Amino acid sequence: MSELRWNRKDLLGIRELSAAEIHFVLTSADAFKQVGTRDVKKVPALRGKTLVNFFVEPSTRTRTSFELAATRLSADVINISATTSSLTKGETLKDTAKILEANHADIIVLRHSSAGAAQFLAERLRASIINAGDGAHEHPTQALLDLYTIREKKGSIAGLHVAIIGDILFSRVARSNIFGLLKLGARVTLVGPSTLVPRVFEQLGVTISDDIDAVLPTVDVVNLLRIQHERQRKEYFPGLGEYIRLFGLTKARAKLLKPDCLIMHPGPINRGVEIDSELADGVQSVILDQVTNGLAVRMAVLYLCGGITTP
Ligand code: CP
Repeated sequence: MSELRWNRKDLLGIRELSAAEIHFVLTSADAFKQVGTRDVKKVPALRGKTLVNFFVEPSTRTRTSFELAATRLSADVINISATTSSLTKGETLKDTAKILEANHADIIVLRHSSAGAAQFLAERLRASIINAGDGAHEHPTQALLDLYTIREKKGSIAGLHVAIIGDILFSRVARSNIFGLLKLGARVTLVGPSTLVPRVFEQLGVTISDDIDAVLPTVDVVNLLRIQHERQRKEYFPGLGEYIRLFGLTKARAKLLKPDCLIMHPGPINRGVEIDSELADGVQSVILDQVTNGLAVRMAVLYLCGGITTP
């Protein structure tokens, strides 16, 4: 392990992190995962700190994971959603966030439909801002928990071949995963219809394919993504039946995978579309491990960022 010490008050994306910083978070998460195996699953690391879970877009996994992570670190937690905040009365994001800070919020976990929303707050507030997903831009803690899970199951990430399959264009999970996987030395192939996997992604250093049957036998990990209908303003493929036929991980297709290939999905899953329902619960699936590891990774992120004080 290098001499690196974490020196960021915010976590906005994976793109700006070095490989050493990513390794540092993953190693820190190891210690917090161990805390989860104790009888008393709580440590005083953030005692006296206040965390606001500010979710302007829906979430099950990320919101509950951050709430539990903060609780296990002994922080006080407040949950705010779009419908319960004064955003519905026309208040701006900045004004709402300033109110939170005036109430001495130390950490704000923000999910927002606009790319850059977390950075906008980070540049204006003293509180730590953790990006819990901003539009189609980044979802850094999802990528960190995905990297953690791959490392846990495979031993290391360098040299692995990872396929990310589905709606890449509108996926913040895909972007954050691409940055993280490449920084840690994996090879990444994106698979999906050309309308949802435009060639411009090649500039990031990935390979693109529309032939899932050719890619599946070559990979160590498949990460399936759902179609993000909520961000799409037109039809990107003829219909779901066509999508499943060409890009769905069906039981027949799964026979092409290596026996030790990991099947991942960030959730929410559309069973029977991007992945067959039985495969999602099958022996190669690590989907629930991703959720469990998300807690340890988010404890590490809150601990590292929440410990940075600004004047
Ligand atoms: N993976 C993920 O971000 O899920 P939620 O939308 O439920 O938080």
